[in-house]
Amino acid sequence: MARKTLIAGNWKMNGLLADGVDLAKGINTAVKSKGKWNCEFLVCPPFTLLTSVKKALRGAKVALGAQDCHFAEKGAHTGDISPVMLKEIGCSYVILGHSERRADHGESNELINKKAVAAHQQGLKTIICIGETEAERDAGKTINVCTLQIAGSVPDDATAADTVIAYEPVWAIGTGKTPTAKDVEEVHAAVRKALAKKIGKGNANKMRILYGGSVKPGNAKEFLSLPDVDGALIGGASLKVADFLGIAENAGC
Ligand code: PGA
Repeated sequence: MARKTLIAGNWKMNGLLADGVDLAKGINTAVKSKGKWNCEFLVCPPFTLLTSVKKALRGAKVALGAQDCHFAEKGAHTGDISPVMLKEIGCSYVILGHSERRADHGESNELINKKAVAAHQQGLKTIICIGETEAERDAGKTINVCTLQIAGSVPDDATAADTVIAYEPVWAIGTGKTPTAKDVEEVHAAVRKALAKKIGKGNANKMRILYGGSVKPGNAKEFLSLPDVDGALIGGASLKVADFLGIAENAGC
């Protein structure tokens, strides 16, 4: 089965109401301006914008996702949002274990796994993020770190229908620095191997593995044409309509 390219925007903690709606409207118009795309689009705004962005995207084939969730359905978890709440307001995806959450909130593989199980139970698809730090790369531990993150954070019963992996080298996020295409392909192939061990070869071969970290229109083709790269998770460049769509165009979508 062919893996459909996923072009996903991670807006992070950016955008007040007017900005978010403007951006979503721009994406809506741009996506509709071309009849058929060879990819799936997704935007993941901050929680506060989800409802308005959903409305602004009406009529365009762009999925809505959140950037995190709790594993519980409800209860005494001040400041948290549950998968069922995200589902109710129209999300179909949730990003989990982004390196900024692993670093800023001390999220472990075990916690991410628990969140993913809960999200899948509510019918949400997850984008589980992995990636090495600069020190880990320098120490030659990239494959080892990513393999352990896959083993720990991906649920045992994850399938290609409910899970997407995003490989994002921490040192490439928001820095303008990127690995070489050869490095990316090597890690993606190793990630697929680790997935095969965890969830079986059939499932692993169908699961999408995105690359993330300073993806721009200018390097989209280089990364997205690699055999094991099935899309991109885009931060900075997803905040500009022309860049977000330019990445899809240049990737041959
Ligand atoms: P970036 O972020 O595209 O700004 O590097 C990617 C991400 O963190 O998902």
